Amino acid sequence: MSTINRPLIERIEKHFKERFGSEPEHIARAPGRVNLLGEHVDYNDGFVMPAAIERATYVAFSPSRAEASQVIAADFAEQISFTPDSILTKTQTNRSPLPEWGLYPAGVMQMLLKHGVAVQPVQAVFSSDVPRGAGLSSSASVETAFLTTWQRLAGWAMPLMERARVCQKAENQYVGVNCGIMDQFASVCGVENRLLLLDCRSLDWNTVPIPENVAIVIADTTVRRRLTSGVYNQRRSECEQAVQLLSRHLPGVRTLRDVALQDFNRLAAELPPVIEKRARHVVEEIERTNQARIALELGAIEQFGRLMNACHASLRDLYEVSSFELDTMVSIAQSLEGCLGARLTGAGFGGCTVNLVESARMTTFADQLKARYRQATGLNPEIYLTRASDGANLVK
Ligand code: GLA
Repeated sequence: MSTINRPLIERIEKHFKERFGSEPEHIARAPGRVNLLGEHVDYNDGFVMPAAIERATYVAFSPSRAEASQVIAADFAEQISFTPDSILTKTQTNRSPLPEWGLYPAGVMQMLLKHGVAVQPVQAVFSSDVPRGAGLSSSASVETAFLTTWQRLAGWAMPLMERARVCQKAENQYVGVNCGIMDQFASVCGVENRLLLLDCRSLDWNTVPIPENVAIVIADTTVRRRLTSGVYNQRRSECEQAVQLLSRHLPGVRTLRDVALQDFNRLAAELPPVIEKRARHVVEEIERTNQARIALELGAIEQFGRLMNACHASLRDLYEVSSFELDTMVSIAQSLEGCLGARLTGAGFGGCTVNLVESARMTTFADQLKARYRQATGLNPEIYLTRASDGANLVK
């Protein structure tokens, strides 16, 4: 069983009792994720290697006898009330617009209804210890926590990958962020102490154990991303442009997944320079994930780390989604003893780096990284040590 944030659960239970006058019947927990390799490839049908993390969103909930659902975001000290009808126009029962955080539970409700399953009114208080906007999928964890909530209330069965797809649709079609499947997948399908390997085309997935002598260390630059969804969507469309241009020479190419590195190298000069850089990142990153799978099978964890380092260089120079702070954090980490690999994780532009570190050196690594990053930037970083955790489930 994954580590559970008891103090946070006690807080939301207390809040629930004060607001609704009884104990919550259930508590759902849904983790954030960290991605080890395969960045910006999920929407190009590539392979990703994330793990669910110990930080998670928790929902304390009970069924409601009222028609409207009432949801309290303890972290914002705000409450919303909505019905399946009101959310059609992204509004509450009193006709005021849903706040941004409210789009996540409401979006999940709407997509579940579209999916044809029963969704019952709920009374809920939720809170999260996944830092927001930090590249650790706080949004996906809220979505999958509410899916778990409504699943418990109505009792329907739904395969795990379908749950992830419903939550992804909530993000794409309701919140309006055109993300791939990776985050919701990791939050739903996480397995304790294991890395997840997902083929984003076939949606086949499996897991591999994380060796005991290595630790995942997440380092938060504390700089939050700006204008992410705009640049994110722009990167997606640059990849689509590359496919369009390359398919003139390579019939049958549907996504960059279909372009072999050799063919890409032969045709690269045909692409405008910026499009070439973006597509090169994707084609080479998919190749890196293939090599990484082999490295894992062979237990060659140092090689896996080197591929992480190469991934960062590519995100920085070709995909151009890094930042001064991320580059600083990564280069300090890579210079420290015991660091096997370091890179930015998630969409980029700010947020966190992920480091693969020899367990025996983890504490010194974290201390030195903190001190040297502070010295270089004047910022106080946060370090999150995490094991890979289980996916969304009920803890009560
Ligand atoms: C965000 C998106 C994911 C993925 C990553 C980049 O986290 O939500 O779908 O595209 O960025 O790898």
